Order: sequence, then C-alpha cells, then structure tokens
Amino acid sequence: MDNILIVSVTVFLLCTVILLYRNRLKSKYRNKLPLGTLGWPFIGETLEFVSCAYSDRPESFMDKRRSMYGKVFKSHIFGSPTIVSTDADVNKFILQSDAKVFVPSYPKSLTQLMGESSILLINGSLQRRIHGLIGAFFKSQQLKAQITRDMQKYVTESMSSWKEDSPVYIQDETKKIAFHVLVKALISLDPGEEMELLKKHFQEFISGLMSLPINLPGTKLYQSLQAKKKMVKLVRRIILAKRNSGICRVPKDVVDVLLNDASEKLTDDLIADNIIDMMIPGEDSVPVLMTLATKYLSECPAALQQLTEENMKLKKLQDQVGESLCWSDYLSLPFTQTVITETLRMGNIIIGVMRKALRDFEIKGNLIPKGWCVFANFRSVHLDDRNYECPYQFNPWRWQDKDMSSCNFTPFGGGQRLCPGLDLARLEASIFLHHFVTQFRCNSELSHSKNEKEDACDGKESGILRLGWPKSVEPLLPKAKEQAFYEKYKM
Ligand code: HEM
Repeated sequence: MDNILIVSVTVFLLCTVILLYRNRLKSKYRNKLPLGTLGWPFIGETLEFVSCAYSDRPESFMDKRRSMYGKVFKSHIFGSPTIVSTDADVNKFILQSDAKVFVPSYPKSLTQLMGESSILLINGSLQRRIHGLIGAFFKSQQLKAQITRDMQKYVTESMSSWKEDSPVYIQDETKKIAFHVLVKALISLDPGEEMELLKKHFQEFISGLMSLPINLPGTKLYQSLQAKKKMVKLVRRIILAKRNSGICRVPKDVVDVLLNDASEKLTDDLIADNIIDMMIPGEDSVPVLMTLATKYLSECPAALQQLTEENMKLKKLQDQVGESLCWSDYLSLPFTQTVITETLRMGNIIIGVMRKALRDFEIKGNLIPKGWCVFANFRSVHLDDRNYECPYQFNPWRWQDKDMSSCNFTPFGGGQRLCPGLDLARLEASIFLHHFVTQFRCNSELSHSKNEKEDACDGKESGILRLGWPKSVEPLLPKAKEQAFYEKYKM
C-alpha cells in the first residue's frame, strides 16, 4: 500500500513539474517558439525519430511534422528540446553562424568517443586553425596525385579479385579501398599487418558511435573506448617516430601538417584524436557515396550509358597517349560529376547537423531558445519537390544547368565547418566510377528479370558478376533492387 502511495505521489509530482515546465516555456516565449510537440516526458519523440530513421522512408518523421507545423518545428530528440529545420534559408543561417551563437552538439556516446579535442566538437580559433591546415593539405596537388595513384592501385586490385561464383558486395569492397587510401593520407601507413590491426580496432571503435552512453565493462561504449585507446597508442607511436627523426618540412601526411604547426595547442593527444576521427569518412561516407552511385546507375540505364561513353572516351585517349590518368583528368568529366552530385543529393549520406544555441536566437520568425538544440536537416531540403522536380528520381541531367552553390544543396555542410574532404570524396568516387564502367557493363536484361522474379542467381552464367548492396543504402528507390548483374568487357 505504502509503495503504491509513493509511486502515485512521485508520478503526480513528475507530471506537475513537466506541466509547469511546459507552461513556463509557453509564457516565457509566448508564440515565438515554432509549433510542434515535445512528446513524452524525458524520451520526447526520440523513439519515433529512430524508428523512422531505420524504416524504408526515413524522411517520414520530418514529412509528417512539416505538413502539420510548417518547415521549422519543435521536438524533443536525444534528450534535448530541439528545433528542427527543414528550411533551406534557416539551415544556411545555422551553418554560417559562428561559435558565439551555435556550437556543435552530438549525443553523449559520440562526444565521449570522439574526444573533447575532436575538430567536430571544438570551436573558435582552434577549430579554424585545424580546419585551415587540413583543408589546404587536402586541396594540394601533391595529395591529390598521391590519392589518385593509391586509388588506381587499390581499385585495380579489388576489381581483379571480383569472382563470378560469389556475390560482390560493393560497400565492402569500397570500404577496403577508401580506408586504405585515407589512412595513407593521414598517417602514411601502407597495407600490412599494422593496417589490419588498425582496421580491426577501428571497426570496434565505430560500432559504439551510436550506443547508449553507459561506460561500464561489457557495454558497447566501453569496448569502443578501449579500441580507441589502442588506436591512439599506435598513432602516438607514429607521432613520436616523426618527432625523433625530424619533422618533414614538406608534409607527406596530415600528421606532418599538424606537427609542422608552431601552435602549442596542437598537442599529441589532440593530433591523435583528430587523426582517428578523420578515418570515419574512409570507412563510412566515401564508401557509401561510391556504393549508392553504383546502385543508382544500375537502375538508370540512360545515365549509365552516358557515363560509360564519357569515361570510355577518356580511356581511349589515355591508351593512345600511353600515360596514366592524373587527378584532373578524372575531375574533368562533366557528366561523371553530375552523377556524383545527384548521388549526394538523393543519398543524403549526412542527413543534417546538430548545434546547440548559446543564446536566444530568432531566425525567420522562429525562436531558438538558449540551451536548446537545433537540427538543420539537409535531407528534407534535398528531397523537397519545391526545390527539385521529381525529387525521388535519379536524374543527373538536372544539374547540367543548375547552380550547385545554392543553399538548397548542402551535402558537405557549409560555413566555417564546410567539409574539408569534399574534393577528395569527389575525386575518389570519380576514379572508382571510371574503372568500374570501363571494365564492366551492366547486363540489364538479367538484372531486370532476376530481380523481378526474385530469383536467386547462383552466379554460374559464364562471365556474369552479381553485385549486391546492403539494405541500409537503398531507402530511396521505390522499387529497390538488391542486386544487379554485370559482365567484364572482353579485351
Ligand atoms: C561523401 C563524403 C563526405 C560527406 C558527405 C561529408 C560531409 C560532411 C559534413 C556535412 C560536414 C559538416 C559537419 C558540421 O557542420 O558539423 C563535414 C565535416 C568534416 N568532414 Fe566531411 N564529408 C565527407 C568526406 C570527408 C572526407 C573524405 C574527409 C577527410 C578526412 C572529411 C573530413 C571532414 C572533417 C575533418 C570535418 C569537420 C570540419 C570542421 O568541423 O571544421 N570528410 N563533412
């Protein structure tokens, strides 16, 4: 009886506190807060947000609320009251704002794993310094030439190992390629035992990025933190070796770039943390970009044909001249670039960015209260039919006379935190696509019939390769197919 009374009183008190808090919010901000609901006490709308994210229409959470409340609405996700923006102008404003108004804000498990000095979390002059240093290095001709050589080598190795008797999972193949290329650019490590060990620890590390924020032995977060410690040790050993042998004045990798900076703020711990964080796009964003491009092309024969013709022309020219292609050759192909741009728009590899308001702030009549989070959602803008005709249709031609710099297109973010790796991502994808379409052609008849009948191909047709992709990369095509059939060109 006593227990029932205690529980009832506690529930009553909690409800009263929540109601008072909500009424206080209402009266404090009058009608300036955007419409929307804060959902359930404590969990808010997180469960619905997460379950939509894993469904085959991840944008349904946003679409439903946008139709009820407008392009900017309030919600409560990941433990914080949040203003969600699906409005391109508001997003642009958030991206352009400096650290006096908004600072990055991510779930606790993520911040613990990335470390306090991660570029994704720090602000002000230190963030600008590191951003500038790595951005300039990633843009350098010397690095682009190295990336091109490495990509050519690893892509050739990977594609020559594709066999007819077992399916080729594009995302796994591109992960191997992109991770090796990026790790070489970051710490000059070549494939071998140490790289394999690093990859093993790295996979453990990233598996905890979206875990519960409980750091106890046995939990995912704990295991990820242990894996990170081992990686930090490896990177610190590399830093020490570089310091002992005299730092290279002409940087060969990102560690050299950061060690060359005279600022005392760039400590070895900060360098190690950031090097590890920068491996994430090599394992995730860039491979997803290549996988999605392959998938969209396999389902759009006209685009695949035009891309193939453009790349074949370049290949013939190269064969005549007898020299290997350089980075600018790959980036000079206009249709290939539109294919990558359209893949970035439809694929929404990074769905948006999270920030926290340091003071009350009003944008386009919407108040973002101090201490609240704001989620600038890029995906809803990229898939809005007011911005793009037939937004769910893969249509690279739409970019032929469209301005890419508009605020309706922000796959790499913007402002002071604009992704410094964007040129590299495009270059790697261009090289992968070139080698793919100049070595293999789609057997569209087979792809069509096998997929329609859901026939399990045993891969025994001579010369036929079965390409597959995980379910997670295909939420955007209405009739998503899990495989496509390709055959190698006969030389
Ligand atoms: C398709 C591939 C990629 C996509 C879609 C992508 C997307 C993004 C986005 C949206 C941001 C902004 C985050 C924010 O504003 O909080 C960002 C930041 C960043 N990206 Fe990328 N990225 C990609 C590839 C790369 C690559 C290859 C690198 C190279 C290491 C890289 C390194 C970074 C870094 C260091 C930042 C943090 C910049 C800062 O806060 O100053 N990214 N990326």
